Amino acid sequence: MASFQVLFALVFCHTLSCYGVQAETIVCEDISLSKFPFCDQTLPYNVRVKDLVDRMTLDEKIAQLGDSAPGVKRLGFPGYEWWSEALHGVSDAGRAVRFDSVTPSATSFPTVILTAAAFNESLWKSIGVAISNEARALHNVGLSSGLTFWAPNINVVRDPRWGRTMETPGEDPFVVGRYAVNYVRGMQDVEGFLDTSDPNSRPLKIGACCKHYTAYDVDHWNGVDKYHFDARVTERDMMETFMYPFEMCVKEGDAASLMSSYNSVNGIPTCADPMLLSQTIRGLWALHGYIVSDCESLKEMVIAHNYLNNTPADAVARALKAGIDLDCGSYYTSYAMEAVKKGKVKVVEIDKALKNLYLVLMRLGWFDGSPGNYAALGRSDVCSTQNLELAAEAARQGIVLLKNDHDILPLNFSGKRPTLAVVGPHGNATSAMVGNYAVKIVCRYSTPLNALGAYAIVKYAPGCSDVKCRDINGFAAAAEATKGTDATILFMGLDLSIEDEALDRLDLKLPGYQDTLINSIANASTGPLILVLFSAGGIDISNLKNNPKVPAIVWAGYPGAEGGRAIADVLFGYYNPGGRLPLTWYPADYVNHLPMTSMQLRPVPEMNYPGRTYKFYNGATVYPFGYGLSYTKITYTITSAPKLVLYQLGRFQLCKPIDSSNGTVPECQAIVVEDLECEEMVNIVIGVTNVGIRDGAHVVLLYSVPPSYIVGAPIKRLVGFQRVYLRSGESLQVEFNLNGCKSFSIVDADAYELLPAGEHSLVVGDGEVSAKISFMFSY
Ligand SMILES: *[C@@H]1O[C@H](CO)[C@@H](O)[C@H](O)[C@H]1NC(C)=O
Ligand SMILES: *[C@@H]1O[C@H](CO)[C@@H](O)[C@H](O)[C@H]1NC(C)=O
Ligand SMILES: *[C@@H]1O[C@H](CO)[C@@H](O)[C@H](O)[C@H]1NC(C)=O
Ligand SMILES: *[C@@H]1O[C@H](CO)[C@@H](O)[C@H](O)[C@H]1NC(C)=O
Ligand SMILES: *[C@@H]1O[C@H](CO)[C@@H](O)[C@H](O)[C@H]1NC(C)=O
Repeated sequence: MASFQVLFALVFCHTLSCYGVQAETIVCEDISLSKFPFCDQTLPYNVRVKDLVDRMTLDEKIAQLGDSAPGVKRLGFPGYEWWSEALHGVSDAGRAVRFDSVTPSATSFPTVILTAAAFNESLWKSIGVAISNEARALHNVGLSSGLTFWAPNINVVRDPRWGRTMETPGEDPFVVGRYAVNYVRGMQDVEGFLDTSDPNSRPLKIGACCKHYTAYDVDHWNGVDKYHFDARVTERDMMETFMYPFEMCVKEGDAASLMSSYNSVNGIPTCADPMLLSQTIRGLWALHGYIVSDCESLKEMVIAHNYLNNTPADAVARALKAGIDLDCGSYYTSYAMEAVKKGKVKVVEIDKALKNLYLVLMRLGWFDGSPGNYAALGRSDVCSTQNLELAAEAARQGIVLLKNDHDILPLNFSGKRPTLAVVGPHGNATSAMVGNYAVKIVCRYSTPLNALGAYAIVKYAPGCSDVKCRDINGFAAAAEATKGTDATILFMGLDLSIEDEALDRLDLKLPGYQDTLINSIANASTGPLILVLFSAGGIDISNLKNNPKVPAIVWAGYPGAEGGRAIADVLFGYYNPGGRLPLTWYPADYVNHLPMTSMQLRPVPEMNYPGRTYKFYNGATVYPFGYGLSYTKITYTITSAPKLVLYQLGRFQLCKPIDSSNGTVPECQAIVVEDLECEEMVNIVIGVTNVGIRDGAHVVLLYSVPPSYIVGAPIKRLVGFQRVYLRSGESLQVEFNLNGCKSFSIVDADAYELLPAGEHSLVVGDGEVSAKISFMFSY
């Protein structure tokens, strides 16, 4: 009878309905489980997970391989929901997080593309910390059974049409990688437990997951979708661009997980490629964690890719052997048994996957409780004032001032409460500000309309009913609204109906009649006109950039639920904008010159393809990567930089020729980076002075430019960035300590990483100052 009662309680408490009444799941606190070696805290994790897996029957093992793991009833071992989302805040887009009437939401930070524009690593980390606090709080109060969150999205934006640009930190692999490292560390790191001798037992606060691996960035374009797309990529581009942030995510971020993408790379679906998965992620980069497939991608391997005519059981065998530990979907759970029975899979391969999974759950404290100090986090830590302030702060830091003729911004009505006309489909924006992978209900909205209302009397006329702006019926009323006002603020741009997952753009223009609306308001309005744009990808607004009747333009990405007040603070000068574009804004005809499906970053002269990203495209731009104005003025000087970096070579470090033009080519052109110790550091100190009248943050961007004799090298490459705050008149010395190999290498056509000899340059910002540094090799 007693044992029946215990059993009854267990079964009851292992159904989802139980989580609403129970606090944090601590598996081994369950009296009936504590007797097993897998709950013995004196044993190492690898011994414990082996014990757990060894206790399961084959059926039980296979059942745990999908994202909704049912647990093992026979043992009283609970289930686990692996799939949770936290792209820019804890979201209920996955399976494990739910909200209730007391806590209906979590903080919605700006979309990643805007947060990236802040170029502030500590901001990125702080957001990761805030999100993991909310995740732990929800876990503590039983609203989230999960501790594994499938974020960040770190695909490099190769093409301006990509619908998921908003989810990413932009087009530069180094920025994307630094974002990944900071966000992952913010989410995962448990203070006081960073230096463990065994990384496979390092405690995790929550688990992050860098996705989508790899060379993805086509969603649905011109009849090609991500399920069918076969990215044809050179090894050179893989190394230099597509893999680069993932390597940083694993090696420097120590992420608990990577997710494979839907597409194929060079004919092989990524979830079936042992070279990409186990050999690279586990072998070369030494992942401490698990690899998950994107949802239903095993099914799409069979149905969409029809890979090698594989049956579902073949596909399961391939994915397991390639290194996929967890299937988001039900292919593993449905077909792994058949694969085993037909001799296509060894059970030991299943065991290996399960051990990778349970090791992460052990590190998360799911078995024993977390050593981190999170037990006190509760409902008041979700949507807390502190986190809502951080969300507003992230938007302020990211907002980019694109144009400011005659210093028309910040608005200043000399103490008078002004009357403003607010025009445009985003004037009263709510859900458009939060983008995709957001919470269904936000903590609260600060809309542009409300936020401007705090500083001004506001007249509102949307002009168009939505961003598609299909007719001009509202234009007259909008023009009328501007009459007699002190200024007009236009809120225009894109939203999820134009760019989203499964929705790539076909052009780079403002949709519908938006352009006409802006021009007619510009003609009608008497006071100053300020254009605020919401978008992720760049928009060709050349005509507005060149129109003197549109004196100010501000890009606000999708600024999150607190976005309205961040914009108002910038417009009224309570915050001096310091954000920089994390993407090149190309002219509209750029996309006519190359299909979205071409993966090359370098120009392809035979096909008249222009290059992609600031590293390889040297045509005209609407606004370049890194662009952004301020209300103050900054000057630079080079305080110190080395003139020469000398590498003393050993007998077996041979010179390698580089594809070069007929300029001055050094005798010993390059050394393969792998052959070098790479201990030489290049230290550069840049004097930064605020010579304007306003205080503000400023982003110092530092690029390296390879020697000019090399053919096919990037035009320049970002190797460092720092966001600093300077009061009016203040000077700071900003120091960068660069690794000679990492920051000055190139990847040649054969995918060797080479350190070239000759004259490199370090260039600050848009070339305001630079330092030339000679690299020499001698025996
Ligand atoms: C606003 O303008 C007035 C008058 O020109 C000036 O005295 C004041 O300093 C300005 N305020 C700001 C914040 O720039
Ligand atoms: C702004 O949007 C909110 C919520 O969608 C709505 O309740 C309100 O009426 C709108 N305001 C105006 C002036 O249209
Ligand atoms: C705005 O004014 C210019 C010059 O007067 C005119 O060419 C243009 O058609 C006007 N645009 C709109 C949309 O009214
Ligand atoms: C060498 O380079 C110069 C300048 O780039 C060019 O004008 C010349 O034709 C080149 N000569 C050869 C032999 O390629
Ligand atoms: C960077 O972000 C952090 C966290 O929000 C903030 O405290 C700091 O002031 C920011 N730095 C600059 C220069 O804006």
